[in-house]
Amino acid sequence: MYHKINCLLTIALTGLLAACGAKGDRTGYEYSPQMYHSVPYDGLTQITDQDAGKLISNREDGKGEFYNSNPNNPHEMNMRQPPANTVSRNQYGLLPINIHKDSFDLAAQVLKSPLPDNEEVLAQGKELYERFCIHCHGSTGMGDGLVGEVYLGVTTYNSAAVKDKAEGHIYHVITHGKGRMLSHASQLSPMERWKIVRYVQTLQKQ
Ligand code: HEC
Repeated sequence: MYHKINCLLTIALTGLLAACGAKGDRTGYEYSPQMYHSVPYDGLTQITDQDAGKLISNREDGKGEFYNSNPNNPHEMNMRQPPANTVSRNQYGLLPINIHKDSFDLAAQVLKSPLPDNEEVLAQGKELYERFCIHCHGSTGMGDGLVGEVYLGVTTYNSAAVKDKAEGHIYHVITHGKGRMLSHASQLSPMERWKIVRYVQTLQKQ
C-alpha cells in the first residue's frame, strides 16, 4: 500500500518539477508573473500578441499579461527608430564620444569643454579636484599628495610634458586613465570631469 502511494507521489512530483522546466521556445511557468513583466513600454521586449498570457492576466485593459507593444508607433514598436541621418545626444546635449583610450592626440584635437570659463565652474572644479585628485597630485599639482608620496611617479602638471596639454587631453586622461593612473569615469560624470579640467588648467600654468 505504502509502496503504491510512494510510487504515485514520485510520479506526481517528477511531473510537477518537469512542468516548471524552461527549454528552447518554452519559457516554463513563472511564479507571480506580474512581478516580472513590465507595465510601461519596455524598450527591449516586443510582444505584439494581445492574447499572450491572457489566462493569468490582471490587466485593466483585458489584454494578455505579456502583451507589451506601443500601438502609437509604426509596427507597434516600443523603441522608435531615430530620424535618418541623426545622432542622439546624451543628457547634457553632447554628442557621444568614442575615442580609443590610447588616442590622446585625437582627443586633444576634438574634445572641447562645453562649460563656460568662469569663477563658478572653477570653484566647483577645485572642490572636485580636492576630492578626487589631490591625494595623488597634491594641492598645487606637483604630484606630492599624501598618496603621491608613496605612489611615486605622479606627473607634475606644470612639467614640460604636461603644461601645454589641451583641455581635451586632460579630459581624456580623467576618462580613461594613462599609464599608472586609472580611469575615473565611473566616479565622475562628464560635466564633473570638464569642471576638474578647468581647475587643472590653472595648475598647469603656475
Ligand atoms: C592614485 C593616484 C592618482 C589619482 C587619484 C589621480 N592621478 Fe593623475 N596621474 C597619476 C599618475 C601615477 C600619473 C602618471 C601616469 C603615467 O604616465 O604613468 C598621472 C598623470 C596624470 C596627468 C598627466 C597625463 C599625461 O599627459 O602625462 C594628468 C593630466 C592627470 N594625471 C590628471 C588627474 C586628475 C584630473 C585626477 C583627478 C580626477 C587624477 N589625475 C587622479 C596618479 C593619479
